[in-house]
Amino acid sequence: MELSQRLRSLPPYHFAAYNRKIADLRASGVDIINLSIGDPDLPTPPEVLAALIESAQEPANQRYPGYEGMLALREAFAAWFARRFGVTLDPNRQMTTLIGSKEGLAHLPMAVMDAGDVALMPNPAYPVYPTAVALAGGVCYDLPLDAEHGWLPNLAAIPADTLARAKTLWLNYPNNPTGAAAPLAFFEEAVAFARAHDLLLIHDMAYAEVRFDGARPASILQIPGASDVAVEFHSFSKAYNMAGFRLGMMVGNTLACEGLTRLKSNIDTGIFRPLQIAAIRALQLPDQWIDERNAIYQRRRDTLLAALRDLGLRVETPEAGLYLWPETPQGETSAEFALRMLDSAAVALTPGTNFGSRGEGYLRITLTAPDARIAEAATRLRTALASAR
Ligand SMILES: Cc1ncc(COP(=O)(O)O)c(C=O)c1O
Repeated sequence: MELSQRLRSLPPYHFAAYNRKIADLRASGVDIINLSIGDPDLPTPPEVLAALIESAQEPANQRYPGYEGMLALREAFAAWFARRFGVTLDPNRQMTTLIGSKEGLAHLPMAVMDAGDVALMPNPAYPVYPTAVALAGGVCYDLPLDAEHGWLPNLAAIPADTLARAKTLWLNYPNNPTGAAAPLAFFEEAVAFARAHDLLLIHDMAYAEVRFDGARPASILQIPGASDVAVEFHSFSKAYNMAGFRLGMMVGNTLACEGLTRLKSNIDTGIFRPLQIAAIRALQLPDQWIDERNAIYQRRRDTLLAALRDLGLRVETPEAGLYLWPETPQGETSAEFALRMLDSAAVALTPGTNFGSRGEGYLRITLTAPDARIAEAATRLRTALASAR
């Protein structure tokens, strides 16, 4: 037996290989500080856990949960969305409940793209997007992002013949990996562009609630009429320190929601109801909980920014998200630099090229380690770089 051509033609999922190397080093006794994966280290709020535990004891909640997600969760999400963004969503027609946003992002192309259809794809980007397009038989057309243009794609530069074959346009703000935010004026342009060229605009907003310095990133659905052409992905993972729960939501365009729900009904059988009940509780947390949690990330961000700048690395100050995106020193690729830091400082960082060719020259560093470990990582990087001089 051989694995399928489809599977063999995919690039390996970076974190799997990298995590194996980290595990091997740890097994040999090395104390690795892992700043390479955005896995929130802070605990899930106790009231959310209490809702999970209590509802798990109820026999009715132990049965098949239903395909569409509980109406109570969809209603709670609609209420949260209205409060947070001032946008009204129909819980019955404009939502698909997901087993983590990654699952929905990975399945959506199968519901909305045919073989040979083009996906307009930022580079760098979260690697799940191009992989999902490839699995559905689609083809990616690169939209290069760079610092000079605020990490926003130049939609006007897409050739007409590509546009004629394009079916989807992918965006992600606050952005992973660059940390960039998008102004509403860009969202307006993107929605108009999607409408003019009959595209489904797929906006990933997994980092909506990890924000600094009083910033409040906007939803693309705030643009009037955006739901005619757009869906937006949200995640409980980063918003509420619930990465292990695997809960996400796709909202917006009714046809895309219906399509994804229909596809998923052939693949999974919904989400354990106690997890959904816990998610409802999370959506009721006060803004103060989010602000206090974000103050912790902001402190870590500032420690790392100061250390990186001290080391002579150029880095912008992100206003949202879990990542810093510094430039690598001259004379080394980002993969070489990241490996050197893993070997010489026992600090795991992600080479920018893991997010696409345009990530060359950058590293992605996460804020998901306790303050003391972040400070220790800064010290180790300083020592490793000083001894290499
Ligand atoms: C941009 C982006 N979107 C989506 C996800 C997936 O999040 P989850 O599946 O935990 O909701 C991630 C995870 O790191 C991400 O960085």
